[in-house]
Amino acid sequence: MLYALAIKNYRSILELIIPLQQLNVITGENGTGKSNLYKALRLLAETAQGGVINSLANEGGLNSTFWAGPENISRRMKRGEVAVEGGPRQQVKRLKMGFAGEDFGYSISLGLPKPSNSVFTLDPEIKRESIWVGDFYRPASALVDRNAAVVKIRDGRQWQVVEQYLPTFSSLFDQIAEPSKMPEVVLMREKIRGWRFYDHFRTDKDAPARQPQLGTRTPVLHHDGHDLAAAIQTIVEIGDHQALAEAISDAFPGANLTIQYEDDGRFSIRFYQNGLLRPLSGAELSDGTLRYILWVAALLTPRPPSLMVLNEPETSLHPDLLPALARLILRAARNSQVWVISHANRLIQTLQQSEICHTIVLTKELGQTIIPQQDILSKPAWHWPD
Ligand SMILES: Nc1ncnc2c1ncn2[C@@H]1O[C@H](COP(=O)(O)OP(=O)(O)OP(=O)(O)O)[C@@H](O)[C@H]1O
Ligand SMILES: [Mg+2]
Repeated sequence: MLYALAIKNYRSILELIIPLQQLNVITGENGTGKSNLYKALRLLAETAQGGVINSLANEGGLNSTFWAGPENISRRMKRGEVAVEGGPRQQVKRLKMGFAGEDFGYSISLGLPKPSNSVFTLDPEIKRESIWVGDFYRPASALVDRNAAVVKIRDGRQWQVVEQYLPTFSSLFDQIAEPSKMPEVVLMREKIRGWRFYDHFRTDKDAPARQPQLGTRTPVLHHDGHDLAAAIQTIVEIGDHQALAEAISDAFPGANLTIQYEDDGRFSIRFYQNGLLRPLSGAELSDGTLRYILWVAALLTPRPPSLMVLNEPETSLHPDLLPALARLILRAARNSQVWVISHANRLIQTLQQSEICHTIVLTKELGQTIIPQQDILSKPAWHWPD
């Protein structure tokens, strides 16, 4: 479980340190930075897949993802007494992301490269990466520290240099030559790789989830939902088939979902609804019905991850379906830490009926995403290594 997430200098987030619990609902008005927070968490997860540099390039490069406002927003700027102005920079510009987990914490800091002969002048560089034990970074609690190209690990009271030429575009997680020397790094990489993100399933007429697909056992629904039928069948065989039936009838009373398999190994869904003489195939379902079934498959996974992140799961669902979706999310939160980013009132209200629900409301002040209800006591302790 993650106890805190820290983001600095990413789009509308100048700096946020967010406390996390088992079920977290992130909400706020349009443009307050919910999606930015989601993207930052995804970016953090990409570090363990070797994709952080590429993802940043796809977003338009580090320069466009940096916070576009001034380094510091003074009280007088907030009160409107003086104009918002930049002033000379006190610190080098860095995008920083990190989290504190149950056993270890991790942070990464990315910056623009120094002028060189390379034509990849927009590629961000990884400047610093650290892994530590405990709630937040302290030099005494650091286990692994990467500073530019040099990686050191703690060896009793000493530091041991294990790498001197780590490329600036490689993360600690990309190059683990000797796993036995850095067990924390391997452990953390595997943990982060297990995080699951679901974001806007496609339901257009050519959506992969509508087509019959070759089926193999699928304990984890793919984020594009193409293996929906196989995932449902896997829940029937090795998962909680009763919860599956309940989730369908919770949303569509009297309905029933089955899987049809052809001799060529292709699987497809069949949806029986009250009043119809034959079941409907994936191609015939409404967008909302198909999306709900996709959420059922994702949330009833027989292999729950440590962290599941759901971005705007309400998209194209009728408000009447939202309480049923909320009950599914609450169920998933028994086995996984869950983040829900949403602005659907009915979904949030049903989630908030549970005592495990922790709501974070984002607002914007002078272009900056803030958590207004946060004070010194509710803000987790956090130090950036650099
Ligand atoms: N580099 C940047 N610096 C500062 N602000 C930025 C930067 N890039 C984007 N933004 C701001 O972030 C805001 C968008 O935030 P985001 O997309 O996360 O909103 P949201 O809460 O998801 O809204 P919605 O509910 O409409 O999806 C925009 O208002 C945009 O002005
Ligand atoms: Mg958004």
